[in-house]
Amino acid sequence: MAKEWTPQSWRAKPIEQAPVYPDLGALAETERRLASFPPLVFAGEARKLTRALGDVAEGRAFLLQGGDCAESFAEHGADNIRDFFRAFLQMAVVLTFAAASPVVKVGRIAGQFAKPRSSGSETKGDVTLPAYRGDIVNGIEFDEASRVPAPERQLEAYRQSAATLNLLRAFAQGGYANLDNVHQWMLGFISGSPQGERYGHLADRISETMNFMRAIGITAETHPALRETDFFTSHEALLLGYEEALTRVDSTSGDWYATSGHMIWIGDRTRQENNAHVEFCRGIRNPLGLKCGPSLEPDGLLRLIDVLNPQNKPGRLTLIARFGHEKVQAHLPKLIRAVEREGRKVVWSCDPMHGNTISVNGYKTRPFDRILAEVERFFEVHRAEGTHAGGIHIEMTGKDVTECTGGSRMVSAEDLSDRYHTHCDPRLNAYQALELAFLTAELLKKDIAALEPKQAANF
Ligand code: PEP
Ligand code: CO
Repeated sequence: MAKEWTPQSWRAKPIEQAPVYPDLGALAETERRLASFPPLVFAGEARKLTRALGDVAEGRAFLLQGGDCAESFAEHGADNIRDFFRAFLQMAVVLTFAAASPVVKVGRIAGQFAKPRSSGSETKGDVTLPAYRGDIVNGIEFDEASRVPAPERQLEAYRQSAATLNLLRAFAQGGYANLDNVHQWMLGFISGSPQGERYGHLADRISETMNFMRAIGITAETHPALRETDFFTSHEALLLGYEEALTRVDSTSGDWYATSGHMIWIGDRTRQENNAHVEFCRGIRNPLGLKCGPSLEPDGLLRLIDVLNPQNKPGRLTLIARFGHEKVQAHLPKLIRAVEREGRKVVWSCDPMHGNTISVNGYKTRPFDRILAEVERFFEVHRAEGTHAGGIHIEMTGKDVTECTGGSRMVSAEDLSDRYHTHCDPRLNAYQALELAFLTAELLKKDIAALEPKQAANF
């Protein structure tokens, strides 16, 4: 029998990646204040996402999850949020229309501030300082004062998350996501390019379909699905004091929910089954993600599934495979077989970013062809195992950054220094993200076509 869970029970467990705060009194005071603030999301919304992910687990929909590696305080602004949302909607519409599949939309946004690090310190020349752990913990500037963990940053992260979420809700529900606007989602720097043209053709077909539907009386005014969309938020639940302060009992069900975002995930570095992060996540009812890297063995995965989804509820748990393009084929099949053998209901999603990071000219980057190769191999493995390649999890932005190399509009190693803005890992720019969406849509379409005719009809 699992021991009793409380929002604090993680505190008695060993913990990885926890910042060391010099002033514990100030930390406790910040957490106390956060605990008095309103929730950012509601239990009913988290339940809705679980149901939508349940459809993905059953092979009836596809998950698109993406956003910044790390949100930053400095880049917080309406233009960035709008450009991200536009790029994301473009990807979603490509997947929905080209592959004729419902798409569950989950941003890595409105709370993605805390970062796990492979090293606790950073050295430049002969100076060594504590590592940057995300804007919610300390500052990215390379000086001693910035790197001291400061509790009041958590209040700013909460404020920024609330403002971001407010705008996203307005975009998703207030008319911006109306399918009549499908042409307007095109970002300026994409129009006129080959991907832009491809998107333009698809948008024309959607507009034609909308005109036809209007002619027979189905309009955005009468059918909410045409004028608004469900958009959910997610982040890594790394800074547990912050998560605990925003964990609340839902009055209708009596269950505990993290109200910092709709979905939260456990990172590859903090997924030890007896440690704090797994302990915290097992007790909340939100949909959970679990990053699965090369060191995860089938037995360990099954034990984690037992802890995190003991009721085997479809949609509760998304396994996010992040092996690297050369390792997917060696690692993924054995995990899928173990899950299938035990009859566990999970969503399988592919993070083609975190196993494909290399260093070029002093920049952390990810070659686009390796990202693509990992997605392709992920689909191939699922096809061979007879399971559903359920989604992708990517780091992306709506801006024209030069952080990942390659793509059909080539970003070269020399270009990296032009617009390298990320606070942590390299992201796909909007152009590369759209290209990936088209390629993924092709793979998904092939999968759907390969399904039994009866199942294909469910899409
Ligand atoms: C991330 O998603 O930014 C991350 C750090 O991933 P992982 O835990 O898979 O390394
Ligand atoms: Co990252």
